[in-house]
Amino acid sequence: MKDKIISTTVHVFRWDELNDGQRSLLEAAKQMTQQAYCPYSRFSVGAAALLQDGTVVRGSNQENAAYPSGLCAERTTLFAANANYPDTPVVALAIACRKPSGFTLQPGSPCGGCRQVMIETEHRFGVPIEVMLYGENEVYVFDRASDLLPYGFFAEDLA
Ligand code: THU
Repeated sequence: MKDKIISTTVHVFRWDELNDGQRSLLEAAKQMTQQAYCPYSRFSVGAAALLQDGTVVRGSNQENAAYPSGLCAERTTLFAANANYPDTPVVALAIACRKPSGFTLQPGSPCGGCRQVMIETEHRFGVPIEVMLYGENEVYVFDRASDLLPYGFFAEDLA
């Protein structure tokens, strides 16, 4: 038996250390929490995807009385981006989470299903997606979606 270490890197930023483009995409994600449909969890998630041509696609979590029928903000956003602009790579994705008491102090952690969709979007276009997770105290920046899901599952694994 031997061990393999699977590691990842996240950059931790203060708000004032981010560049204007990062801040503006994060602001869009924060704004989108206002439009979340989350009457059951009261946990509002907003997301904004920047496409390579500068287009910004926005989304939020959409819940349903039949709970599993709902969808997270990240997937709502990436599926909308890929449905409307199937030939344009996504280059950045910003996410913000808000409770009734306010935005989370620490960056929200995207669920496993959303990470899987992020890496497929990244892989399909062959362009890294910078993923930014907003927290009131600090912002996490991953250089590529696959850094959120090391040892991920891809189409090649089906072969
Ligand atoms: N949620 C997201 O939108 N993104 C995540 O990555 C985690 C969870 C949503 C789903 C549900 O509407 C609410 O947050 C509580 O789980």
